[in-house]
Amino acid sequence: MEEAVGRILAAIVILWFINLSREAPQDHVRQILGELRNESLVFGNRTFGHNVSYPIPQVVTTELDRLFVPHPGHYYHNITGSFKGKWDFDDSLAKSIDQQIPPLPRWPVDGEDPKKNGTETESGNSGDESSVDKKPRLEDRFRDLKDKEGGQNDTIEATKPQYQEDFDIFKGPFQFNRSGTFSFSVRETKATEQVNWVRGTWRLKHEDGEDNGISLKVLGVHFVLNGSFYMWGVPEGANIPMWRVLDLMPNQPAYDLAAAAIKDQYEKQMKSLQNVLDGHEQLDTPEMTLSEPSLCTYQMYMQLGAVDSSIRSSLLKDLEREWAAPQGISTIKAPELNSSLFMYSPNCRLTIGVKDAEGLKREKFYFKAVNYALMAGTVAFIQVFLLVRQMEYTTTPSSVCKVSYWSIAIQVFLDSYLCMFHLTTGVLVDYLFIPFVASSFFSFVLVAIFGMRYMLVIWRIQRPERRGRRNRAAAERAATAAANATTPAAGSRTDTMPGGLPLPVTAARTTPVVEDDSPRSDMRALYSRFYWMLLASLITLYEIAVSSTRIQNVMISISALLLYSFWIPQIIRNVSRGSKRGLSHLFVLGMSVTRLVIPVYFYGCPGNLMGHDATPWIWGLVLWVALQTSVLLLQDWLGPRFFIPKKYLPPVYDYHPVLPAPTEEGGAGHGRHQDCAICMLPIDTTSSSTGAGARLSSVVGSLGRLNYMLTPCGHLFHTECLERWMRIKLECPNCRTFLVDA
Ligand SMILES: *[C@@H]1O[C@H](CO)[C@@H](O)[C@H](O)[C@H]1NC(C)=O
Ligand SMILES: *[C@@H]1O[C@H](CO)[C@@H](O)[C@H](O)[C@H]1NC(C)=O
Ligand SMILES: *[C@@H]1O[C@H](CO)[C@@H](O)[C@H](O)[C@H]1NC(C)=O
Ligand SMILES: *[C@@H]1O[C@H](CO)[C@@H](O)[C@H](O)[C@H]1NC(C)=O
Ligand SMILES: *[C@@H]1O[C@H](CO)[C@@H](O)[C@H](O)[C@H]1NC(C)=O
Ligand SMILES: *[C@@H]1O[C@H](CO)[C@@H](O)[C@H](O)[C@H]1NC(C)=O
Ligand SMILES: *[C@@H]1O[C@H](CO)[C@@H](O)[C@H](O)[C@H]1NC(C)=O
Ligand SMILES: *[C@@H]1O[C@H](CO)[C@@H](O)[C@H](O)[C@H]1NC(C)=O
Ligand SMILES: *[C@@H]1O[C@H](CO)[C@@H](O)[C@H](O)[C@H]1NC(C)=O
Repeated sequence: MEEAVGRILAAIVILWFINLSREAPQDHVRQILGELRNESLVFGNRTFGHNVSYPIPQVVTTELDRLFVPHPGHYYHNITGSFKGKWDFDDSLAKSIDQQIPPLPRWPVDGEDPKKNGTETESGNSGDESSVDKKPRLEDRFRDLKDKEGGQNDTIEATKPQYQEDFDIFKGPFQFNRSGTFSFSVRETKATEQVNWVRGTWRLKHEDGEDNGISLKVLGVHFVLNGSFYMWGVPEGANIPMWRVLDLMPNQPAYDLAAAAIKDQYEKQMKSLQNVLDGHEQLDTPEMTLSEPSLCTYQMYMQLGAVDSSIRSSLLKDLEREWAAPQGISTIKAPELNSSLFMYSPNCRLTIGVKDAEGLKREKFYFKAVNYALMAGTVAFIQVFLLVRQMEYTTTPSSVCKVSYWSIAIQVFLDSYLCMFHLTTGVLVDYLFIPFVASSFFSFVLVAIFGMRYMLVIWRIQRPERRGRRNRAAAERAATAAANATTPAAGSRTDTMPGGLPLPVTAARTTPVVEDDSPRSDMRALYSRFYWMLLASLITLYEIAVSSTRIQNVMISISALLLYSFWIPQIIRNVSRGSKRGLSHLFVLGMSVTRLVIPVYFYGCPGNLMGHDATPWIWGLVLWVALQTSVLLLQDWLGPRFFIPKKYLPPVYDYHPVLPAPTEEGGAGHGRHQDCAICMLPIDTTSSSTGAGARLSSVVGSLGRLNYMLTPCGHLFHTECLERWMRIKLECPNCRTFLVDA
């Protein structure tokens, strides 16, 4: 059954990946193709300044003049990659736009407009409940207009606000009047010599990231020679014909250049769709992003920063060519890529300004990713080495017994997460496939080959301990009885004689519980447990991924804290068993450091791969791991329980108790001497139990007591014999009860 679980898991993972590249139904493709054909017809009949749906207000034009300052210099020709930065809302700008565009009427009060019958009675209500009522209708209008494709009207006219209150509905719950961060991932394809076609995704967020932010689909043109971009940004799910980009063109030459590029795009896309229909290609599946609902459409104007004037154009071109198709030519150091941008939403009357957004070209990102994957692979490799050393360190059962199963299990879990994370990234981002899959291979080796094996070893060796746990309480009672055997209490234990004297070897053994001992069943139990936990955590991960950013942050912090408490079980085990040096110092230090490398990289390095900003809590995590590590190491120097007040300590079993003088009437006690079941020689217990004076001669006695050992189950052996035995097996040689490590 457990094997089945593994297979189901594998199947789920495979299905999940297959799902991503699912083929689009033919009808759907045909529909898109038809729409494109109709669009390209409309577009062919347009001229500059013709049917521009939204005249740009004067203030915006002023802003654009400020943005597009003609500047001699060279620009990157291809910015495929991503931009990051901060956006601002300019309140005064918004006010002057409102002044320049005549205000819209307010909501009709008595439902005189049939379209709004029953939805709204008080005007000026911008609360959430009203938008719940109105939004579906607007979104329907959105969709309705797609049916009328080919006419003069499209999404943009369709979502023209008609009433003052429409603005609030259009904007949705996102607060545009605060600043925040954005990311813009962009892809360029060559259209004509001077113009690239741009597609991308734009995400607006607030700094605190408590909502999902706004996600926009971007399309437009890039004038390669002077680094100017003219783009439309529409909400996810909405559609905008490519030719609408022509609306943004400032002059006739620009219009002509853009028109040629758009024509080229229509041809390319129709050809590619035709290929999909013929089965030669697959349709790109759109990326799924979460976004707050919003109907604002944006005109986006972007200007790249010119590179340093000392860099010649040919050098920059060489650099870009070398990046695109590496040939090993030495190039200049990559100049900075930055841009400024201005966004104007005609239907929401919003403006958003961005200054000096930092760009990262895809190739540079790729180098970063390769370096990261190298680092992650090295870390995993070092961890494999450390784990193997640790396994060599604990070759005997008694040393394995000191190792906490959970300490190892949490680390293996951590590694399997990392492995999954790398594998998923490698599969989802196709150009990162090789580096990420290679590094996840090392994590996989770490998890599947060494980690799981070590877990299995620990699991098997410590099983008697778990099984014995229910007998433990009784055994401990017997042990304390034996240790405090000043009063020969009449213990009615089965395997201890009255007075705490051990049973003779011939006494009836307690039959051990019959359990399936085979390694196979152990392995199955272990693996099924592991898989179930992995499945459960995958589901949790999914839940986290679809929840809001604030919940995500909280959940990530909690799970990071839990997963990075991996030494805690070991510390607890050391305390409860009074043992130390279960883990080698190399392992403890090495693992603590290597496990921190990746989180510190992502949350502490400003220029990291994922573009996270440095967060202070990562240093808390580092401190937390450092604290655990130092406690663990101090336990080795100062004793495992140095930090716990004496009175809270659980009792440690004493293998060298004072034995009471055997009463002559004792049923099975044959005199003072007993034979050690291991070497068959008699054990001298006299030195410790000189009759009633045992307590008086305790100093002498303590030396004598070291000659023999009394197990918790009440069997007596020579210290030497039993210690040698316990190095191999932590079971009583007589009755196979689990023995606590001395
Ligand atoms: C394209 O336009 C024609 C005529 O205007 C229309 O009949 C047809 O349904 C349109 N196709 C699509 C897919 O919109
Ligand atoms: C485009 O113009 C041609 C003639 O110039 C006309 O026949 C055609 O119907 C027009 N198409 C559209 C969609 O207006
Ligand atoms: C768009 O242009 C055509 C042809 O010039 C014109 O007939 C039509 O009225 C215009 N539509 C709008 C909404 O301006
Ligand atoms: C860049 O070139 C385009 C097309 O020639 C032009 O419309 C635009 O104004 C230019 N931008 C700048 C900043 O010169
Ligand atoms: C709108 O509401 C008014 C009164 O509330 C009603 O008379 C009218 O029929 C309604 N119109 C529609 C289209 O439902
Ligand atoms: C297109 O939009 C104009 C103005 O918004 C409107 O008057 C006209 O009826 C619309 N045409 C169609 C076919 O929806
Ligand atoms: C932003 O606008 C919302 C209403 O849309 C308002 O509640 C909030 O106070 C405003 N915040 C700022 C900083 O102006
Ligand atoms: C820009 O670079 C990307 C790879 O980074 C490439 O796929 C794309 O074709 C390039 N675009 C142009 C216009 O050269
Ligand atoms: C933007 O990039 C250009 C070219 O690398 C550089 O000269 C300029 O200083 C940068 N601007 C800022 C604000 O970083």
